[in-house]
Amino acid sequence: MPYTDFDNIEVSHEWAFENVRSTEQWTHGYHRYPAKFLPNVVKKIIEDFAPDSNVFADLFAGCGTTLVEAKAHGKKSIGTDINPVAQLITKVKTTPIEPVALQQSYDALIGLFDGYVEDDYINIQKHDRIDYWFFPSEKAKVAFLFEAVNNAPFDNATKEFFYVCISHILKNCSRWLQSSTKPQIDPDKKIPDPFEEFKRHCQKMIKSNRAFYEELVTKGNLNVECDILLEDARHTSIQSGSVDVIITSPPYVTSYEYADIHQLTGYWMDYIPNMQDFRKQFIGTSYSGNTSMDVPGSALGQEIVNELGKKSKHIACDVAQYFNDMQEVSKEMVRILAQDGQACIVIGNTKIKDVHIKSAEVFYDFLQIAGLQEVAVIKRSIPHKLMPTLRDSVTGKFSKLDNPNCKKVYPNEYVIIMQK
Ligand SMILES: C[S@@+](CC[C@H](N)C(=O)[O-])C[C@H]1O[C@@H](n2cnc3c(N)ncnc32)[C@H](O)[C@@H]1O
Repeated sequence: MPYTDFDNIEVSHEWAFENVRSTEQWTHGYHRYPAKFLPNVVKKIIEDFAPDSNVFADLFAGCGTTLVEAKAHGKKSIGTDINPVAQLITKVKTTPIEPVALQQSYDALIGLFDGYVEDDYINIQKHDRIDYWFFPSEKAKVAFLFEAVNNAPFDNATKEFFYVCISHILKNCSRWLQSSTKPQIDPDKKIPDPFEEFKRHCQKMIKSNRAFYEELVTKGNLNVECDILLEDARHTSIQSGSVDVIITSPPYVTSYEYADIHQLTGYWMDYIPNMQDFRKQFIGTSYSGNTSMDVPGSALGQEIVNELGKKSKHIACDVAQYFNDMQEVSKEMVRILAQDGQACIVIGNTKIKDVHIKSAEVFYDFLQIAGLQEVAVIKRSIPHKLMPTLRDSVTGKFSKLDNPNCKKVYPNEYVIIMQK
């Protein structure tokens, strides 16, 4: 059992960052990403707990918040994520481009729009899921955008910058219900013009790129090393003992299906050869296919799964798989940490079918078993804009206020800081 009683920790106001819009600072706002970090939290961890540490890592890098902040602080960083869309976004967010050259590339690209002929693109075959999500005229314009970037004489970093821009606008330009993270058609959606959306978002990104580029140049951090690997957090290629500080936030259990959420980019960019296999690689998925309720590494985890098993065997097996995966990740974290290195985990608890899923306590247990010692456990209130706080009490999935079954969950999350 954990040494700290998580329920009785007081909420820290210092970590609330009410009304702070750091999500739009520098390159942080390039692309929406479910459950992304509030950059202030990462910044505060670096400044309060690791100002003199050199090498930072995030094994669930997502859209790269840890890596962007590490670079801004002049720290070398390495990230892993199983999601190729996360890898693309992170790469671009951590690689600002010389602003004048970027503007020239943008102008050249936009200049091609005048030569667009719909007939040349309207019959392009991509994937039947693309035909499901897009009407023909928007699909044709998106196909043109991808082709224009692909064929342009830009370097890779510039091409990837524009791919991230296209990726971000795909949801807007498709039939996907704009207010929903989950894949859902909006039959009444007024779909904007992809070229106009591209220009609007790209101009915003160009401005942000300049701000981050200038920040890095001013601080002498432009060439600070930063690497993002498409790897599984349970088994990475990161060298043993090479990391001073891990700052990470694991996926929430059976909440976000990242494979499905990023399917538009996934299919356009040929990242998904087989959706079923792709989904299974994600920790926390409800498609794990696990049929066992055993959690051999944690008595608390086992207790939670047994309780859940009385309500739904299927969900209990997914949660068991999640806990077992978390143990693998804990071992991997300890392996890559240098002696005295720190692991900082930002994690929330939740309720599924009225069972309290104490992921924070279970993860804490695993880290302790793997050989780490507590430095601090902080409780902070969840930023309302970054994380839905409502769940369907029947299905356990994230929900909206108008759902009669919805219940408030995750009012708080924990920042667990441990040392090797
Ligand atoms: C809560 S998000 C992290 C968000 C991140 N902190 C940010 O600021 O963007 C969890 C991430 O875990 C990733 N993930 C899920 N299963 C994984 C696995 N087996 N290995 C590595 N990453 C995985 C997901 O793709 C997702 O990006």
